[in-house]
Amino acid sequence: MLHPEPLPKNIVLIGFMGCGKTTIGKKLQHMLGYPMIDIDHLIEEKAGMPVNAIFSAFGESQFRELETAVLHELTAPDAPRRIISTGGGIVSRRQNRRLLHQLGFVVWLQAPVDAILERTARNKDRPLLQTENPRQRIEALLDLRTPWYQETAHLAVDTYGLDAEEVATGILESARYHFAAKP
Ligand code: S3P
Repeated sequence: MLHPEPLPKNIVLIGFMGCGKTTIGKKLQHMLGYPMIDIDHLIEEKAGMPVNAIFSAFGESQFRELETAVLHELTAPDAPRRIISTGGGIVSRRQNRRLLHQLGFVVWLQAPVDAILERTARNKDRPLLQTENPRQRIEALLDLRTPWYQETAHLAVDTYGLDAEEVATGILESARYHFAAKP
């Protein structure tokens, strides 16, 4: 695989659980030759336990503290360029929205509720969806978070009907336009 010209900053993927951040991130990693990092994994390393254990032992607000701490670390000026995949709720804090913007080109991946429901039903790793009525929870969280994703993203991509290659190619093109317009 040929690696094109490097981009001046990171590509940051945001969006709801099950919208394909990891899959698209891996595709971009392959196309650009940059490392991909996943903020949830960095949090797990920091805490020494999986995300759902952090939620059950310390609660969501402690998890959000760790999320912000990791984001701060990534904004260090000498940090290498990366593809950064985030957890779906990272936009809940205003401070995080600002930090995400500083990190680079922020892409909001979207998918229909049915697709989110189907993808997230496959595993039990998402504490916020362990409820009697996951569809209702997804819809409520989407209502709450949509303005935050909108505010944070430079680009919104509806992934419905597209494969990972198509989505990643579109993101790369838009990222180049974005960075070219910003000296
Ligand atoms: C969360 C999404 C999860 C993870 C945690 C909370 C959320 O990440 O950060 O379970 O609040 O939407 P994914 O979006 O990668 O599933």
